Amino acid sequence: MNRKVSALSDFIAAMKEVAARSATDDDVMSRLTQPALRLAAERSWVERRRAELVPGRNLVYEEPDHCLAILLVRWRAGSRAPAHDHGTWALIAGVEGEEINTLWRRVDDGSRAGFAQLEATSQVAVGPGRILRIGARDIHTVNTPHPALAVHIYGRNPEYIERNIFDPIGRTVRRVRF
Ligand SMILES: [Fe+2]
Repeated sequence: MNRKVSALSDFIAAMKEVAARSATDDDVMSRLTQPALRLAAERSWVERRRAELVPGRNLVYEEPDHCLAILLVRWRAGSRAPAHDHGTWALIAGVEGEEINTLWRRVDDGSRAGFAQLEATSQVAVGPGRILRIGARDIHTVNTPHPALAVHIYGRNPEYIERNIFDPIGRTVRRVRF
């Protein structure tokens, strides 16, 4: 097996082992942080896919039950993702350009259906050599003023999770798959 293939397959093997042996999402994210940074820095497995990359999500790997998903996410200049959570742990590692992530805190008590009040807490630019850990209930928005490419690693493929989308200005929340 050549090195191009092994960078990805080595990460997948590490991810499976870490997920099987970790008690909490925080453990998984912490143990996979350095392997995910190495995966994002190893360009050859990305280059092999480059011609096929579409804007948005490109699924690279998932388990048969849709857990442990690796995606390459290609952002066009001016792209935005609305405020959302993932319902699973996530690691976002930069490959090219910068994903500007704004992290939010929910300040209402969740007792009013459809209502949510958020406060922005911090902003993180995720470019090459940087990684962001996002817990299952953490909320973020993304914008990319310039084109960007990132590796997203999730406990479960987001296509198969119903999760929350928030409107921080309208103060709403709804459950969706997206
Ligand atoms: Fe996200």
